[in-house]
Amino acid sequence: MTSAHNRVEVLHGVNLDALGRRDPEVYGALTLNELQTQIKRFGRELDLEVSFFQTNHEGDFVERLHRLPEVADGAVLNPGAWTHYSWAIRDALELTGLPAVEVHLSDVGQREEWRRHSVLDGLVIAAISGKGADGYREGLEALAERLGR
Ligand code: DQA
Repeated sequence: MTSAHNRVEVLHGVNLDALGRRDPEVYGALTLNELQTQIKRFGRELDLEVSFFQTNHEGDFVERLHRLPEVADGAVLNPGAWTHYSWAIRDALELTGLPAVEVHLSDVGQREEWRRHSVLDGLVIAAISGKGADGYREGLEALAERLGR
């Protein structure tokens, strides 16, 4: 099987399906669908084939990561609140062996103390926060470079 080595999955975790209903001052006004439409466009501009996954169930997120190397060459993760405490997600991402970028819509460094720590620290090639949808573009750019696009 041949692959152009340009497949990137964008994985959204807990509560991100509620975008559009969450505080727009913090997370912006886009729904998840609208955000994904933008991300898809960023991907096209960078010659990346982008797929999406969202769940509110930690085990499902972990299992998606287990299967990820079969379907993707890189990953963009916004695990929502799991970012701050799910060592299981860190372990599962490590297991993929894939280059990954962490993206947060809000500026997690400037909010509550408990949001300042990320379990993905040191594992991701870049961590971007506080740039809204544009953060995903930056994340995809970092992956495109890593994947030699
Ligand atoms: C978030 C930041 C997290 O702290 C929060 O729990 C989220 C969204 C963001 O995109 O800004 O659910 O990951």
